[in-house]
Amino acid sequence: MRRDHVDPVPAGPRVPADAWAKPVGSAITLDPLTDDAAYRKAFFSTFSSATPENELKWEVVEPRRGDFAFARGDAVIDAARAAGARVRGHPLVWDLQLPGWVGEADPDDLESILRTHVETLARRYRGRVAQWDVVNEPLDEDGSMTENVFFAAMGEGYIDLAFEAARRADPKAERFLNEISAERGDKADALVALVRRLRGRGVPIDGVGIQNHTTARGFPTRAELARLMRRLAPLKVEITEMDVVVERPGQDPAPAWRAAAEACAAAPNCTGLSVWGVTDEFSWKGPEQAATLFDTEGRAKPALDAVRSALRQNR
Ligand code: XIL
Repeated sequence: MRRDHVDPVPAGPRVPADAWAKPVGSAITLDPLTDDAAYRKAFFSTFSSATPENELKWEVVEPRRGDFAFARGDAVIDAARAAGARVRGHPLVWDLQLPGWVGEADPDDLESILRTHVETLARRYRGRVAQWDVVNEPLDEDGSMTENVFFAAMGEGYIDLAFEAARRADPKAERFLNEISAERGDKADALVALVRRLRGRGVPIDGVGIQNHTTARGFPTRAELARLMRRLAPLKVEITEMDVVVERPGQDPAPAWRAAAEACAAAPNCTGLSVWGVTDEFSWKGPEQAATLFDTEGRAKPALDAVRSALRQNR
C-alpha cells in the first residue's frame, strides 16, 4: 500500500433524502471538487448519487502489480458520503485506463491478477459503495465481444470471474455490467444477448448500466429506452453516464434529458440516473460541448428542470 495522501474535500450541504424519487447522480472528480467552488456547490446542492470519474480506474488504483493507491478514491468517496450521496463504484474491470503492466502480463497470470484487483477494491469499499460497475464496456461497436487482454486470456469467462470475485469480496453491493452506445439498435440486442448468457451461466449480476452519452440531435427516445429497460428486466437498469452534446448553438438538450428521466421514472426496474460530470467546465467532452446540466459558471440549465419534473419526489 502506498502512503499517498490527499486532503479531505470540504463538505457541502446535504441533499434531502426525499429530493429525488430515485437516485440522481453525477460523476465527480477530485480536483474540481476540491478547487472549484461552482462545481462543488452544484454537486452538493443537487445530486443524491456520485460516481468517481477516474479515481477508481485500474491505472490510478493499482499502477504496479499489488501496489494499491486508494487516497484519491477514498477522498472522493468520503466526500460523496458526507453529502449523503449513494456511491456507484466504477469500474472494476475495463480494458481502458489500464496500466501497461496488465497488458504485458503472462496470460496465465491474468486470472489471478483480475481476481486480486476486483477483490481488493470491492473489499476496501465494502459498506461504502452501493453499486459496482464490475465490468465496463465489454462489447465492441458492432456488438461482438471486445478482444481485450482479459478476453484474449480467458474468453467471455473473464466476466463471470469478475462478478464472482466481486460477490465474494462484498456480497451486499449490487453488481452491474455497464455499456456504452447500447441504448438501441444492434448493440442493444447484443447487450441483451450477453446478459442472457451471463444469467444462463448463473453469473451473479444484479443490473445493467446504460451510459447514454448522446447528442441534442438524435438522442435515444423515451420509447427506445423503455423498451431496453423492459428487455433487461428482471435485472435492474441505471442510466449511468448521461451527457448531451450540443453541436450547434440553439439546439435544445432538454428533450434528450426528459426522454431519459421519464423512461427511468416509469420503469419499475430503473434504479437511477447519473450525469457524466457536474459542470460543463470539467466535462470530459470539453466545455464548448455544453454536455452537462450546469454551465461553465455552475448555473443550472433548464434541462435540470426536465430531470426534476420527471424524477422528483411527491410529484
Ligand atoms: C472518461 C473520463 O470522464 C475522462 O476524464 C477520462 O479521461 C476517460 O474516461 N465511459 C466510461 C467512463 O465508462 O469511465 C469514461 O470516463 C467515459 C466513457
